Amino acid sequence: MTPSKQKPDLVYKFMALIAVVACIALAPKCQKQGSTHPRQTRINSGGDLVPYDSFDRYVRFVYNRRKEISMQPKSKGTKYYYGKRGTYLREHAQFLHEANLEKDASFLVKALGLKKRQFTLDIACGQGRHVHALARRGYSVDGVDFSDHLLALAKKSTDKTLKHRSMFYRSDVSKLALKKRYNRAYWFFSDLANINIPKTLMAISRNLEVGGRFLLDTDNVFRLIRYLHKNKKTDFVFNAQRLELVDVRHGLVIPYPVVPMWREWLNQAGLRIERVMGDYQFHPYTALSPRLILIIKKTA
Ligand SMILES: C[S@@+](CC[C@H](N)C(=O)[O-])C[C@H]1O[C@@H](n2cnc3c(N)ncnc32)[C@H](O)[C@@H]1O
Repeated sequence: MTPSKQKPDLVYKFMALIAVVACIALAPKCQKQGSTHPRQTRINSGGDLVPYDSFDRYVRFVYNRRKEISMQPKSKGTKYYYGKRGTYLREHAQFLHEANLEKDASFLVKALGLKKRQFTLDIACGQGRHVHALARRGYSVDGVDFSDHLLALAKKSTDKTLKHRSMFYRSDVSKLALKKRYNRAYWFFSDLANINIPKTLMAISRNLEVGGRFLLDTDNVFRLIRYLHKNKKTDFVFNAQRLELVDVRHGLVIPYPVVPMWREWLNQAGLRIERVMGDYQFHPYTALSPRLILIIKKTA
């Protein structure tokens, strides 16, 4: 090797070394900015850049939490939440204080065509606010719920001077087996957390008279998606494959079936959807509706 040939060789080696050092130093910065890394993608239209790897990890985290959740004793699930030490009444204090019960009662009377001589059942009646509002108007309404705490409050606030004395029963909605058969029923402001919906619809159907009607009021899945999209820092994660909302803080899994799923399960229980509404003002149901409200008839 001649000296004249050795000189450029050293220069090239030095330049290559500088290039390697520069790459190592700048690489993490380029990756963080994320604009060019091939394993990164936009996972939502909000434009957040989330690497595939961390998204997979995130999904695995949620599923592990689900496993833990399903292993929790029942008392720590919804029953606990609605129990004496649970936070339901506290968390909803303002909502319950501001709720217009007379408006709700008028809606139920009109939507279900309630008649005073018929027997009506409030499914998952809580502290009985709608039972009492309707009873004050002269309707014969009973309530059923699985929370001893809320049922005790419901019984305590019963007006004993009314003609029909409302009865309150303790039962899980999926195991309803009441002595009386009802002509009308409503499941208002429902919480479907940890509920086996097909089994529950069968049970509700068994407690209804043929030709009777049932109103189901639940959250609109499309509203929920919009909410979660706007409020990214929540304790909720939506599983689009299972149509379930996972409430990580309270350890609950909340199903969000869409109308065709409801129709299928209701048909299996001898029930048929007559009307689909999106709010308490009788507007038709759309993706933008605040609620999903079904008016259902027992056909068989
Ligand atoms: C959001 S609160 C609504 C209560 C009432 N409908 C109202 O509007 O005030 C939900 C109610 O469902 C009851 N609940 C939840 N899961 C239940 C189940 N599996 N069986 C019976 N009741 C249940 C709770 O105890 C609670 O009273």
